Amino acid sequence: MPVRIPNTLGLDAFADNYYEYADAGQLAACLAAAPKPWLPVGGGSNLLFSKPAVEGSVFHCTDTSWEASRGNGYVRVRVGAGMRWDDFVKLCVDNEWYGAENLSLIPGDVGAAAVQNIGAYGAEAGSLVSSVEVYDTVEGLPRVFFPDECEYAYRSSIFKKSGKRYFVLKVVFKLSLIPSFSLNYGNLAGSIEGEPTLQKVRDAVIATRQAKLPDPEVIGSAGSFFMNPVVSEETFAALQARYPDMPHYPAAGGVKLSAGWLIDRSGCKSMTVGDAGVYEKHALILVNRGHATAADIIRLAEDITAKVESVFGVRLQPEVETV
Ligand code: EPU
Repeated sequence: MPVRIPNTLGLDAFADNYYEYADAGQLAACLAAAPKPWLPVGGGSNLLFSKPAVEGSVFHCTDTSWEASRGNGYVRVRVGAGMRWDDFVKLCVDNEWYGAENLSLIPGDVGAAAVQNIGAYGAEAGSLVSSVEVYDTVEGLPRVFFPDECEYAYRSSIFKKSGKRYFVLKVVFKLSLIPSFSLNYGNLAGSIEGEPTLQKVRDAVIATRQAKLPDPEVIGSAGSFFMNPVVSEETFAALQARYPDMPHYPAAGGVKLSAGWLIDRSGCKSMTVGDAGVYEKHALILVNRGHATAADIIRLAEDITAKVESVFGVRLQPEVETV
């Protein structure tokens, strides 16, 4: 019996070969029998299934365990890749561990967070990582990656760049026991009354996300569909001369622009293909308003990419992965 693969875009996706594993031994046993290609999935919140019948085999980590060990001023928390990311953030806030609170309510699992280097409100998961324990499907062995080997960058990592070679088993995070907050992004500081606490920051982030982003339980989406593009200083200077109000941020290798703003300002917000559309409250998010097919969403993304490129000369790259 084919198994339905949950995905927040709400697309039909069925796998004939679906395996769940909790540790390296179980995964190795599954892989030995599994037809290729091999696709590990977390919460399905960053995937666009291009066809209802998923080729090869799909794997899901069910390890939601955690253990903590305290050091001087910090705590290391070793978390199973299958724990929901927001359960991990809640665990940190409840225990007064500092660092993950700005990443509240991001959908997906801990393993995917370490692959994707999820980020929001000035924080990134990669900067909390102390090590990542994976199964190397090429060598057929477990392996540990330390931060200098993870190649963390904006929404990228060695794991993301290596195809599906590494399946995450555990992520070890290092969090601070000493109160410190990062509230400089947008209006986060302004939405907190009095002295910040971890719970107040978490509540403010959740309220901001709920006001701007669709609830995947209600309307299908995969969060930001595109990455924010990084352009050269020269390209930016030419664009800024034409669009002085263009949002921009310093970035490695140039200047980061806001894809949401580019999509909005190039007049794409009203674009639709079938039931696929652009979310009214945030242009970076493509939504499935009912029965959109993968082809509808792909076509809409292509139309938006072409329009933004024709207006601004900047080519958007998807953040969502099509499989
Ligand atoms: N903007 C518009 N029109 C829009 C949407 C945004 O003009 O329809 C402008 C905003 O006014 C703002 C700028 O674009 O000046 C940036 O918008 P925002 O602060 O909402 O953040 P973002 O860059 O669009 C990123 C992440 C989000 C994350 C937010 C908040 C990426 C691809 N996306 O969005 O992550 O929640 O910052 O930190 O980096 C996700 O990855 O799925 C995701 C939701």
